[in-house]
Amino acid sequence: MRFEDYHAVYRRKTSLSKKLYSRSKQVFAGGINHNIRYFSPYPFYVRRAAKNALFDVDGNRFTDYWMGHWALILGHSHPAIVSALCKQAKSGVLFGTANAVSVNLAEAIQSLMPRAELMRFSSTGSEATMYAVRLARAATGRRVIAKVIGGWHGFNTTLLQTVNYPFEYEESLGMVQEEEHFLESLPFNDLDRSLKILESRKDDLAGIIIEPVLGAGGCIPATSEYLVGLQEFAKKNSSMYILDEIVTGFRLSIHGAMSIYKLEPDLFTLGKIIGGGMPIGLVCGRKEIMSLADPILREQKFKRCSIGGGTFSANPATMSAGLATLQYLKANREKLYTKINGLGEQARKKISAIFNDSKFNVKVTGTGSLFMPHFLEAKASDDNKAVDNALSVATSNQELLNKYHMALMAKYNIFFLPGKMGCFSEAHNAGDLKRLIYATESIVASDLGRE
Ligand SMILES: Cc1ncc(COP(=O)(O)O)c(C=O)c1O
Repeated sequence: MRFEDYHAVYRRKTSLSKKLYSRSKQVFAGGINHNIRYFSPYPFYVRRAAKNALFDVDGNRFTDYWMGHWALILGHSHPAIVSALCKQAKSGVLFGTANAVSVNLAEAIQSLMPRAELMRFSSTGSEATMYAVRLARAATGRRVIAKVIGGWHGFNTTLLQTVNYPFEYEESLGMVQEEEHFLESLPFNDLDRSLKILESRKDDLAGIIIEPVLGAGGCIPATSEYLVGLQEFAKKNSSMYILDEIVTGFRLSIHGAMSIYKLEPDLFTLGKIIGGGMPIGLVCGRKEIMSLADPILREQKFKRCSIGGGTFSANPATMSAGLATLQYLKANREKLYTKINGLGEQARKKISAIFNDSKFNVKVTGTGSLFMPHFLEAKASDDNKAVDNALSVATSNQELLNKYHMALMAKYNIFFLPGKMGCFSEAHNAGDLKRLIYATESIVASDLGRE
């Protein structure tokens, strides 16, 4: 089957979604509520989800590897979370006041990640990284924040630079050039060049923010040398070292990527998993820094670093879902992480092997339960080309990757958000992996192979 034909198959099985997309375009810019959720010819519309699957309005069942932007480590509608949410809904979903369950969740996080000496909940990861930047500037009295090229920390203004290729162009209209001057971008995984850039801005360097695994930027783990090297520079320079663990926290291990890489961030951010599928963000870290946000100690606003919350921060519904998730993770950690990390490792190995035996030059990146294939150019010329930064991801063959993902979706009912990394959850099993491998083999043999 040719790829044009996959679109035809997809269209045939998603006619109600097509109608919904037409309506969506009348009410949402581009028909969507998150830029990455659009894919060609139009996204399918989900009616319900359970365990490892999405069920769309046309009655299709898709095995889900997108898993709510990688947030759903226990799968869709896990009974422990459903029960916690139902119970909470009966006694209120938004108090707009202090509540006990937020303290319980914070204590659960602190017991597993003791570097969270003090914390503050928000409703999104974008807010959490925005507050981390403000805290770093408040703590140091400096202005410049360094991030890596391809690093994604949400839609907050300061960090909305060098996210998408071509990296030298502005990410958005509406940005103020003077403000952009206070952000410095570093070449991911290239310590020597990064240190030179940091050295040139060191007097005004408030902090360095980095994801331990470049997530949205292409599922590329940072090297330990790189993460430690940046940390050493930050500490020596009295700048804040900020780890963005919004994807990796409670996914790579129950103690976060920081325990795997043995890092000691001054501040770090969490989100996704800690909300159990409900909206959340968290900024946390050293007491001395987080105390700058203490409105009791620092009554006068000009002596305080003002950070949110917001209307929905620490709402009891999110807190209950998050607490149920962490309790489940804690009680089942050995089995659960062994399972999802094992499935991830097998997926990387087996998908690599299939492509190694084909005419395609594909590198599969990832770590733990995260994985993503990258189609490189012709096999002979760059067989050994590494995929180790966002530039190598962005200049790989995105069209082929999208076609592979569309083929999985149209013919095999396997869903990856086209072009994005996939993940395993507790709700996946060896049978899912087997079907993914079988589908990939078939697509490579009979379909991609003819492209
Ligand atoms: C590493 C990282 N930081 C921050 C964010 C932003 O989180 P949110 O989408 O909840 O605003 C994301 C979202 O994908 C992320 O992957």
